[in-house]
Amino acid sequence: MPLDPSRLPRHVAIIMDGNGRWATARGLERLAGHRKGADSVRDVTRAAREIGLKALTLYAFSSQNWSRPPDEVLGLMQLLDEFVHTERAEILDHDIRLRAVGEIDRLPDFVRAPLLELCAVSAGNRGMILTLALSYGGRESLVDVTRRLCAAAAAGELRPDDVDEETIDRSLWTAGLPSLDLLIRTSGEQRLSNFLLWESAYAELWFTDVPWPDFDRSHLVAALTDYAQRERRFGKTSAQLRESPT
Ligand code: IPE
Ligand code: IPE
Ligand code: MG
Repeated sequence: MPLDPSRLPRHVAIIMDGNGRWATARGLERLAGHRKGADSVRDVTRAAREIGLKALTLYAFSSQNWSRPPDEVLGLMQLLDEFVHTERAEILDHDIRLRAVGEIDRLPDFVRAPLLELCAVSAGNRGMILTLALSYGGRESLVDVTRRLCAAAAAGELRPDDVDEETIDRSLWTAGLPSLDLLIRTSGEQRLSNFLLWESAYAELWFTDVPWPDFDRSHLVAALTDYAQRERRFGKTSAQLRESPT
């Protein structure tokens, strides 16, 4: 069944989990799972663009992932650097805007520089926004927002009573992205692991046992098909939604 464009989410985020278990189950090093996972990133990004999503946000490395063994962290950073180089043409040719959210300053120079460069050169693209969450934590992002708003208040530039949801939306690292419609997590875990805590307030959640290295376009389509059947009520009743569907 083809996807109904009027029932598509605008913004999908994915917690790309299960690379390590995928590799271990095959007697391989964990890094082999991350490498195969990078292929899934390519396939799913391409599929998302072709399907017509406006924004795809991928959780690639959490603030807490810095605590993993140093060789795994280094391997992940090297894969990220490779990704930025190999996907450059794909991103630019397909009108994709690359963004990065997270504590980007913590990334090693050899990754941060080419990453920020590709974000800058693709900044005018309008086809789809691909956001990589790198050294990202939802709590860390809320601490950062709070600090900046407090500083503005202390400087007399912001009155506490003027702070509303929009102020916070505008201050988040994810500012400017459409609101999050669908959050996918692969590999069987059913938790947020510190991802998009504020942004996921009304996101639909979709879990699959498929590990990220095996996740492909067909799984994305399955999630989108399921999403299309859901009724998002935002606190209202079904009858109210039938009367005024917006
Ligand atoms: C997700 O896969 C990738 C990152 C967190 C960087 P994992 O590496 O968490 O894989 P599992 O969960 O150990 O299988
Ligand atoms: C979440 O996965 C982070 C990413 C997918 C990048 P983890 O594998 O780090 O999460 P936990 O530790 O199982 O909660
Ligand atoms: Mg994991």
